[in-house]
Amino acid sequence: MLNKIGVIGGGYIGGVLAQEIAKRRLAREVGLVDPAPFVNPDDPPERQEVVGKQSVAIGKCLDISEGLPTIGKDVKLTGSKDYSAIKDADLIINTAGVPRKARPDGTFPTREELLTINLKVTNQVAAGIKEMCPNATVISIANPLDAIVYTLNKALKPAKNKLMGMAGQLDSGRYCYFVAEAANVSVENVNAMVMGGHGDTMVPVRSSCQIAGIPVEKFLDDETLKAIEARTRKAGGEVVGLLGFGSAFVSPAWAALEMAEAIAYDKRKVLPVCAKLEGEYGVDGLFVGVPCILGKNGIEKVLEIDLTADEKAAFERSVGAVRKTCDEVEAMSV
Ligand code: APR
Repeated sequence: MLNKIGVIGGGYIGGVLAQEIAKRRLAREVGLVDPAPFVNPDDPPERQEVVGKQSVAIGKCLDISEGLPTIGKDVKLTGSKDYSAIKDADLIINTAGVPRKARPDGTFPTREELLTINLKVTNQVAAGIKEMCPNATVISIANPLDAIVYTLNKALKPAKNKLMGMAGQLDSGRYCYFVAEAANVSVENVNAMVMGGHGDTMVPVRSSCQIAGIPVEKFLDDETLKAIEARTRKAGGEVVGLLGFGSAFVSPAWAALEMAEAIAYDKRKVLPVCAKLEGEYGVDGLFVGVPCILGKNGIEKVLEIDLTADEKAAFERSVGAVRKTCDEVEAMSV
């Protein structure tokens, strides 16, 4: 168990994280930071005073705390509008930023189109971590995932093992779910990995996909698998289109908790992680989804697995897409 987990951003994903960390007792303390609701300087002073006293983070922490006697868990939850609630956290999970949301005509932005707005938020996040818990291990969820982790790395300059992004576990979960559904087997039997960037170029790795250790091709034909792989690449958008009000929030939170649990309990679990590559897979200096061993030190090891020629080419295309967004980060930073 960790002493303290800090959650930055107390919206949909942050709210699930705070309640699940308490329920699973992953840490003795949870600190939740969110400046919302934001005071509008154009509002009359009375309204500004009312909003100034409201706090999503403090409210959610109180709500969860009042449920703790019912579930019989002793966890201390602290919320704040500034970054004070994450002071001395061992592990940070960052969800701060704007999610994708369906427009009135039903279309929605790509994750990359969130870059400009979420970069500003990320700079505040980095400053908050630097001030309050500079030695924390950081798992970031905000989109565009790979570029936001890249930005946090620029600002925080942490050791390679201490900063990572959560995307692969979510994307792999989606892939596994679709395979289990099509093969009509338990989700517990399906093992598969999605690598690369967290965008439409992500790579569902068919050669890693097995049902109870048996290659997936024994269960599903090529056409079905191609359709599943295409659906996996667009699965986040499918949820955005259905919800209307925002993007997926339960499965991303559970995926990040899987990573947090591996770290908190030093499980040395192999999970897909958006990790800094320094020569692995022929990539240097970018954060990309690859299998890693997660344990008490964060990323204990980046694993280099064999890919088929097609998978390798798809991975390289995906790395190209990540590089493009990171180039935009560099262009915006000057
Ligand atoms: N510091 C901390 N929190 C912030 C900041 C900031 N500077 N700016 C905004 N936030 C908060 C918002 O007030 C909001 O409550 O981040 C929260 C984000 O929550 P939601 O809007 O509910 O979004 P959510 O669905 O949780 O997704 C968060 O994860 O999957 C990605 O694309 C998604 O980037 C988005 C992030």
